[in-house]
Amino acid sequence: ITVYVPRDSAALAAGAERVARRIAAEASARGLDVRIVRNGSRGLFWLEPLVEVATPAGRIAYGPVAAADVPALFDVGFLQGAPHALHLGPTEEIPYLKKQERLTFARMGITDPLSIADYEAHEGYAGLRRALSMAPAEVVQELLDSGLRGRGGAAFPAGIKWQTVLGTEAPQKYVVCNADEGDSGTFSDRMTMEGDPFMLIEGMTIAGIATGATQGYVYVRSEYPHAIAAMNEAIARSEAAGYLGEDILASGRAFRLEVRKGAGSYVCGEETALLESIEGRRGVVRAKPPLPAIAGLFGQPTLINNVITLASVPLILSRGAAFYRDYGVGRSRGTLPMQLAGNIKHGGLVEKAFGVTLRELLYDYGGGSASGRPIKAVQVGGPLGAYLPESKWDLPLDYEAYAAVGGTVGHGGIVVHDDTADLSKLARYAMEFCAIESCGKCTPCRIGSTRGVEVIDRIRADRNRPQQVMLLRDLCDTMVHGSLCAMGGMTPFPVLSALDHFPEDFGLVVPDRQ
Ligand code: NAI
Ligand code: SF4
Repeated sequence: ITVYVPRDSAALAAGAERVARRIAAEASARGLDVRIVRNGSRGLFWLEPLVEVATPAGRIAYGPVAAADVPALFDVGFLQGAPHALHLGPTEEIPYLKKQERLTFARMGITDPLSIADYEAHEGYAGLRRALSMAPAEVVQELLDSGLRGRGGAAFPAGIKWQTVLGTEAPQKYVVCNADEGDSGTFSDRMTMEGDPFMLIEGMTIAGIATGATQGYVYVRSEYPHAIAAMNEAIARSEAAGYLGEDILASGRAFRLEVRKGAGSYVCGEETALLESIEGRRGVVRAKPPLPAIAGLFGQPTLINNVITLASVPLILSRGAAFYRDYGVGRSRGTLPMQLAGNIKHGGLVEKAFGVTLRELLYDYGGGSASGRPIKAVQVGGPLGAYLPESKWDLPLDYEAYAAVGGTVGHGGIVVHDDTADLSKLARYAMEFCAIESCGKCTPCRIGSTRGVEVIDRIRADRNRPQQVMLLRDLCDTMVHGSLCAMGGMTPFPVLSALDHFPEDFGLVVPDRQ
């Protein structure tokens, strides 16, 4: 009998290791033959540790399981899928999961993340095999046709970036995966590396073949030790199986891959600071141009994409561009793994095609706030994303629609606040975060963020308020237009959205609400 206990950090934090050990001990004490597979997480975090049992009727879920629950589960016959207070029924029928459109996360929690055989049995490496039979320009065309845009947050068309690297002649080219997932409330990169690492390796290998790069680096933040370990192990196994190395599947093409560990700076997620860091220097932003696609790592053409962008590639190659493009709305094609976090009852990962609304995500999936109080503001797109009030929750998820209201989809992080939140405090936090994380290269960000904290403090203390609000708007304008990168350039988004949508939190009189 096979029992699945996740090895994902979120499950481990909830006690999955103890649960796995207890199941093994209980099975051996009862003389039962139980095989425990350490799978990735299904992304239903409030149910972790989510234990599944493979039965003739499919996989049956139980959760959240504590180590102390294990003997009672054995007593009732959970190995046969028997009823129990923690019994959740067939995993695939849990509405949170059933209503999703899992394309990139199709294997997540289903397979053993470190088993190549399991990966191959679930469409793994089919995309690479097809890519190897195509000319590099044909692979790039497939990506262009799919409509895939950068999932790190900037939404730049991935195919155009690939085309730029392919078209730039150089003795050496690189593929760099940005796994410095720093946005608040985000975890889809981490889940991918821990729960389906071969998918990222396959995506990067296809990127290498398509652009002519023979060396790849995965830049992972140091706060992700389990992801780093899983990636290193999966790379070694891919090499042993001939999917990485000097002669991939006897095709005559080469691609090598290594993991590089960051040291804990938010700005190292900015692509040029990331390159500086890999080269062994302090993570300071470089001026663009030149674009990394022309002159990046060690001055060579470098393809830099986020984990989810690269992880979307194998499916696009195995199923074809049209399959992927059929999902989504407008110019936002395919799906986005959204991450529900903050004050939300059912936090976790929801992969849906573009077009889904925030209201659906917050209530149909998230189940409302964890505190049970009304939701007041939702920050979408990380610490540099705008705070969206209820009037914006019916917008379809779409890069252009969000930009039109001053919002950002970003990397798909959603952080929820209930009606006890003070938005002036959150605006202050945005400026303070920028002051702490600024690389210091340009003045609007380095000095502006510190002055921003001071101005918000004066507004909150009601010292010459109208004039200080004007000053804050002026300062934000300077930061937006004068900063070298998104750190200083986007910090005004949360600040101004808080001021515009929640003026009462800044002590400003709102006539129609008096
Ligand atoms: P950007 O708009 O400057 O560039 C986007 C990408 O397209 C870059 O890789 C750039 O080199 C490339 N590019 C632009 N023009 C090109 C061309 N003609 N040919 C080839 N490549 C081209 O945006 P940037 O500064 O890279 O990213 C900012 C975004 O990062 C923000 O929108 C924010 O949402 C996101 N972000 C994500 C975080 C995360 O944890 N995932 C953290 C912080 C910010
Ligand atoms: Fe550095 Fe901030 Fe300027 Fe970006 S905006 S280059 S983080 S000082």
